[in-house]
Amino acid sequence: MTRPKVFVTRLIPRAGLDLLVGACEADIWGEQLPPPRDVVVARARECVGLLALLTDRIDAEVMEAAGPRLRVISNFAVGVDNIDVAEATRRGIAVGNTPGVLTETTADLAWALLMGAARRVVEGDHYVRAGHWQTWEPQLLLGPDVAGATLGIFGFGRIGQAVARRALGFNMRVLYTSRRPVAASYGATEVDFATLLRESDFITIHSPLTTATRHLFNHEAFGQMKAGSILINTARGPLVDQGALYAALASGQLAAAALDVTAPEPIAADDPLLQLPNCLIVPHIGSASIATRDRMAEMAAHNLLAGILGERLPHCVNSEVYTIEGA
Ligand code: GLV
Repeated sequence: MTRPKVFVTRLIPRAGLDLLVGACEADIWGEQLPPPRDVVVARARECVGLLALLTDRIDAEVMEAAGPRLRVISNFAVGVDNIDVAEATRRGIAVGNTPGVLTETTADLAWALLMGAARRVVEGDHYVRAGHWQTWEPQLLLGPDVAGATLGIFGFGRIGQAVARRALGFNMRVLYTSRRPVAASYGATEVDFATLLRESDFITIHSPLTTATRHLFNHEAFGQMKAGSILINTARGPLVDQGALYAALASGQLAAAALDVTAPEPIAADDPLLQLPNCLIVPHIGSASIATRDRMAEMAAHNLLAGILGERLPHCVNSEVYTIEGA
């Protein structure tokens, strides 16, 4: 019996790959960099399933190239903005993601960035390595206190709530905005966007990228933020207008920013943000703990396997496909 063909767009951890071997004919892109677009289109041909990363744009062209056998697109990420989900739904293709398993790990990184930006950890490290450290200085690398400050959380889903739980230990006043009512607020207060901007000393972004959130953090928003406040983004780069962020950081309106995500990724080598010492940037490592990446790989593999067997995905973002006639 021929095994169903799947294309896996990168070497994911063994924990996931081992589940696929034997169950399907897996074509795995083994390079360090993502497959070029034409390779994704060509290798998708005749596939029943695709296991994609957030670096792969999976749109109508790829789905069309795969042909009518394509049943499942399993994303090795919780965010699915790299996939045209509406198009997949229209074609009856289930789309899977990896929610829950990366919540705590990503919240940890948001906190690492918050603390690192507030207390200027990376600047301090560069200062020492450059040989500038002469003595203890009363005014060296001063930053704001975190304990007791006001934290604004934009987006209060799983990760936003995990960030709020951590803030309890810092005795912070926590504000949040949310698209949906939340079951537990961990002592945080729901506010509107304008209040979040106006009252927060730190704002951390935990919302999906949608047409409504794209460039929501722009000139106008930065102008409304508290002078000297700090922005953290571990969600998606395009939520922030980077030109506006540069201006806000360069003028001192914002004291600092810490970004795990940029637009594009990787950030262009000549992007002016890279010239600013008060902008800390790491390469999209929010979920990058060993155990979490293993769990994501397993989850993505389980979604893929369920999809190729025609079963309901354990974690499906477009469950409407199961109610569409003929899908
Ligand atoms: C990472 O950014 C993810 O969406 O999993």
